[in-house]
Amino acid sequence: MSGGPLVDARPTVSPLPVEPLFQEPVPAPLVPDDWLDQLAAGLTHTGWMSLDVRERLGDELIAALRQEVTTLHLTEAMKAAGIGRGADHMRDRSVRRDRIAWLQGLTVPQATLFDFLEDIRNGLNARLFLGLRRFEAHYATYEPGDFYRKHIDSFAGRASRVVSLVLYLNEDWAAEDGGMLQVFNRDNHDEIVGRVLPEAGRMALFMSEETPHEVMIAQRTRYSLACWFRQDEVPIPL
Ligand code: OGA
Ligand code: MN
Repeated sequence: MSGGPLVDARPTVSPLPVEPLFQEPVPAPLVPDDWLDQLAAGLTHTGWMSLDVRERLGDELIAALRQEVTTLHLTEAMKAAGIGRGADHMRDRSVRRDRIAWLQGLTVPQATLFDFLEDIRNGLNARLFLGLRRFEAHYATYEPGDFYRKHIDSFAGRASRVVSLVLYLNEDWAAEDGGMLQVFNRDNHDEIVGRVLPEAGRMALFMSEETPHEVMIAQRTRYSLACWFRQDEVPIPL
């Protein structure tokens, strides 16, 4: 081979700053036995409860989950929610108007949350023998004017959704912002037994088959995360 010396003709560029490809770990929430005892007692005695899990989950995790749902919302990744499953599935805007996105547990905040939900699943199984095999979870957004009329999350005997959990992600939610969760008596479906403000860190827990509930009209965009602990093994339809 002949020719002059090899010259590297590539222009010299200063390297771009490289973003780290990992996310900071989020501290794992604590799930002590006596707290699980309280959840089990609430579900047994009245079939529902609301509690504040802000300290347990930590502000960082709640903020990270809120960041995810606001991003999904802005990028229009949230889909109009339906009612029923499979062939019965329909979108009835007179019943519910929220938009949803299923969680896969693949981001750091979701994985941390899934560990927490898994601890609750095991804790409830150990105390109430519910045979909960898995859970599914979705984010939900309600725009101003949106609601979800009085309903039950699952029909008795299907062994599907057994325990419902809702975690709210909104900072500084005021009563005038609407969007309250209204819970009805399991023995008298006309009697309101509780109202839950969808404030960040508030969690509602109830028996899916026996607790009628409704989401009042939101006056401000409302972010939440709903989870169902199930007895069956059916995969989530995506
Ligand atoms: C639901 C539901 C309640 C809420 O998604 O089934 O009832 O407060 N959500 O968001
Ligand atoms: Mn519901």
